[in-house]
Amino acid sequence: MRLSPLYDIIVGSRDKEKAETVCKCTLDVCEKRGENPCTLVGASNQDAVSCADIVILAIPFKHLVSTLETLDCFENKIVISPVNPMEKRDFFLCVPPPEGSAALLIKRLLPPTAKICTAFNTIAANRWKLLDEELNYSVPVCGDDAPAKRQVMEIVNRISKLQAFDAGPLAASYQVECLTPLLLNIARYNKMKDVGIQFH
Ligand SMILES: NC(=O)c1ccc[n+]([C@@H]2O[C@H](COP(=O)([O-])OP(=O)(O)OC[C@H]3O[C@@H](n4cnc5c(N)ncnc54)[C@H](OP(=O)(O)O)[C@@H]3O)[C@@H](O)[C@H]2O)c1
Repeated sequence: MRLSPLYDIIVGSRDKEKAETVCKCTLDVCEKRGENPCTLVGASNQDAVSCADIVILAIPFKHLVSTLETLDCFENKIVISPVNPMEKRDFFLCVPPPEGSAALLIKRLLPPTAKICTAFNTIAANRWKLLDEELNYSVPVCGDDAPAKRQVMEIVNRISKLQAFDAGPLAASYQVECLTPLLLNIARYNKMKDVGIQFH
């Protein structure tokens, strides 16, 4: 909903009909809000990846490998990872894979020409949904391909009041992925909701 007024969007799903329903609901919301979305279509995950220039992998960490193993056509695409490898024990904990981070695992699984960047790791889903509220947060972006990282930062900066910050190469992505368990622990132990971050 936040992206569709700005970019042509393909929603991917394991179930194309589910993606189409999501798009229809989004179009209804946009219409009620008097917004003009760009193209918004539902597709299978594979068709979404094949047709897109930029792919946002909004899937849980535990399903990353099984999902990526079934998909191809990532060559030369920008791939944005908001994925946090996280577990809930007595408290929330970042539990990265042997590669060092979810983003580095994605890099290992995808073709070498795919340009992986992290973004949106720390923006709570509940905040995305409150369309009348500004998203006034900082977004650290990691990546190894400078033009791809610039493009991802431009996308971030076009959404509400989000502000992108270069957080270094993909090797530093573990630090970004650790922020969300930190924010969740702060929320829990301080009786707060949907805690975010701002860099000044
Ligand atoms: N939720 C947040 O507040 C938040 C904030 C920052 C970052 N993130 C990160 O963003 C990613 C997505 O989070 P989310 O909360 O949106 O997750 P989610 O709602 O649990 O799942 C997102 C989508 O993943 C697909 N999926 C679920 N089970 C799957 C499976 N077994 N195999 C393949 N695909 C499956 C589903 O799509 P289909 O059923 O349509 O295939 C589902 O709609 C995560 O990696 C999370 O760490 C989340």
